[in-house]
Amino acid sequence: MKIYKGHLLFTPTRNEFRVIENGYVAVSDGRIVGVSSQLNHFDCTNAELIDLGDRLVIPAMCDMHVHAPQYRNQGVCMDYELLTWLNTYTFPEEEKFADTTYAERIYRRFVHALWRMGTMRAAVFATIHGDSTRILMRLFQEAGMGALVGKVDMDRNCPDALCETVDEAIIANEALIAEYSDPNALVRPIITPRFVPSCTPAMLHACGQLAQRHNLPVQSHLSENRDEIALVRKLEPTSTCYGDAYNRYGLFGQTPTLMAHCVYSTDEEIELMRQGGVMAVHCPTSNLNIASGMSPVRTLLDRGVRVSLGSDISGGHDLSMFRVMVYALQVSKLASVTLGVKPQLTLPEVFWCATKSAGSFFGRLGSFEPGYEFDALVIDDSDLNFDHYTLLQRLERFIYLGDDRHIVHRYCRGMEVPEPKLSHDE
Ligand code: GUN
Ligand code: FE
Repeated sequence: MKIYKGHLLFTPTRNEFRVIENGYVAVSDGRIVGVSSQLNHFDCTNAELIDLGDRLVIPAMCDMHVHAPQYRNQGVCMDYELLTWLNTYTFPEEEKFADTTYAERIYRRFVHALWRMGTMRAAVFATIHGDSTRILMRLFQEAGMGALVGKVDMDRNCPDALCETVDEAIIANEALIAEYSDPNALVRPIITPRFVPSCTPAMLHACGQLAQRHNLPVQSHLSENRDEIALVRKLEPTSTCYGDAYNRYGLFGQTPTLMAHCVYSTDEEIELMRQGGVMAVHCPTSNLNIASGMSPVRTLLDRGVRVSLGSDISGGHDLSMFRVMVYALQVSKLASVTLGVKPQLTLPEVFWCATKSAGSFFGRLGSFEPGYEFDALVIDDSDLNFDHYTLLQRLERFIYLGDDRHIVHRYCRGMEVPEPKLSHDE
């Protein structure tokens, strides 16, 4: 057993932080045994005490929507809205991942960047290419970081080079699923139909079947952009809403489901999400950059929909989940002042979205509670903490002002995660 001593900050509920000054968290076999302000709370025989001094210890970050093959486009090409943006910039970049050498080069940088930002779990879109997707899964595994990795499935409204047949998609998915069959592994497949506009009914049906046959989670995009929604209405004229189109094919909560964006979700769609336990992934940076709109996060939360956060690289530009939290707060304030959406999101709410709420998609993690997997970051904020700040203010300043240089230790499932290699032969 290992016992970590430091200032513990986490969100056991959506509405408030729990702060334990000079607290102890005991970890055995990757899971938290107990949390206390007193060392004598634990049976310390055979325990190793790790004193982290005056540092902050917080749950590690979960990025619940990110496109690994768009890493090269991070911070460029944000001058169009979704559909034109995909055709002009995104699809041409994703085509390059037919080349596994290119894929490995970009994916190594991507995994390294996630590590730097303190993101120890992610739900990731790859491309249609099975071999490149396999490389990405291997890199996560070698890094010791948790990931749900999706081979993207698409068969319409895309360039020929990104178009596959339903049979090809099934074969490639089945191969990856067979190789990553341990349900408790850190790296797992996730069924990933790109979105309704790029999947025929046959492809959506095949994806639903794959998910249910192998009891695998699903991820996709939902109600992100007005032109996209109009296109879905044309393509799926009998569906009552965008979410219903997924629901008909078994892709809306029949197995655990992530839906990114949900900017224009109607009451009906929100109710379908709630009923299916579908988790909305709020991507505020992407919704700003490609001018999608403001997601009604407050409404989603109030109606009992599960909510998490995503960087959505490269619609989003910032891989730091701390910065994504700040954008979520800022957008919520604009929505509140401009549209009267009240109350505004709070710091504990967005922190909870990126930790405990998101963590519930992987199992039990994202909080410091008995039975939870120990996914944690140790923050040395000494350069930010030059006057009498409370522990909570120190965390807030790190979230707003800090960066990867302040993250001095990263743990995933109880193991310290060392810096992943940037190149193969390093
Ligand atoms: N909808 C379908 N594909 C994508 C994508 O790559 N990024 C975003 N933001 N939305 C999408
Ligand atoms: Fe996306």
